[in-house]
Amino acid sequence: MKILMIGAGGTIGKMVTPALKGHEVITVGRNTGDITADISLEVAVDNLFNRVSNIDAVICTAGDSVTDNLSKMNKDQFMVGIHQKLCLQINLVLSGMKYLKDNGSFTLISGKMGEFPVNGSSGKALVNGAINSFVMAAAQEMPRGIRLNVISPSKVSDIDENELIEAYVRCLETAINGEIIRVGYNKQ
Ligand SMILES: NC(=O)c1ccc[n+]([C@@H]2O[C@H](COP(=O)([O-])OP(=O)(O)OC[C@H]3O[C@@H](n4cnc5c(N)ncnc54)[C@H](OP(=O)(O)O)[C@@H]3O)[C@@H](O)[C@H]2O)c1
Repeated sequence: MKILMIGAGGTIGKMVTPALKGHEVITVGRNTGDITADISLEVAVDNLFNRVSNIDAVICTAGDSVTDNLSKMNKDQFMVGIHQKLCLQINLVLSGMKYLKDNGSFTLISGKMGEFPVNGSSGKALVNGAINSFVMAAAQEMPRGIRLNVISPSKVSDIDENELIEAYVRCLETAINGEIIRVGYNKQ
């Protein structure tokens, strides 16, 4: 498979990318990767899909959001996650679904705080919950057999690397569509 791996240089990306070595993987990041691009910019996403053709799968492990106590959060801080994690991934799907090969797949990223928030996580929870909802709804309308799923990991110290990799392989290689795959939720 030809896989566009966005965020390969990050904490989660570094756990997943080596497991994809049987595939042709093109890594993307703001500052690191085969291609450097800020994919929060719509024009950069269009450029990316124009530049790399015949993509079978897009994996996104990129995205920023703000963590702070609710009393210290303001609208701009909520907007960081909305723009840099939620809209970034929605736009990746909206643009990419025109270019992906038939029966291709998108695997987005959310996080446990979307379903099990703790104090100080409202900026993350809002965005992660929205990404999960987007995936469940949008997956039903993907064209040409393209599938859309999301990995929702717990914090990295609670993740079993094999479980994480297995989750990505399921998204790439099985027929699942519209699924939220929870990883590391059972650890405290
Ligand atoms: N780490 C965790 O414990 C954890 C748990 C649950 C969910 N998550 C979620 O998983 C995602 C990744 O987390 P992480 O800890 O791996 O983050 P990270 O270490 O900060 O890595 C993020 C990666 O994404 C790239 N990236 C970020 N914004 C980008 C943009 N606008 N355009 C292109 N590339 C961009 C970065 O590229 P550069 O380095 O080149 O800038 C980097 O390679 C986040 O959405 C996070 O909320 C993380």
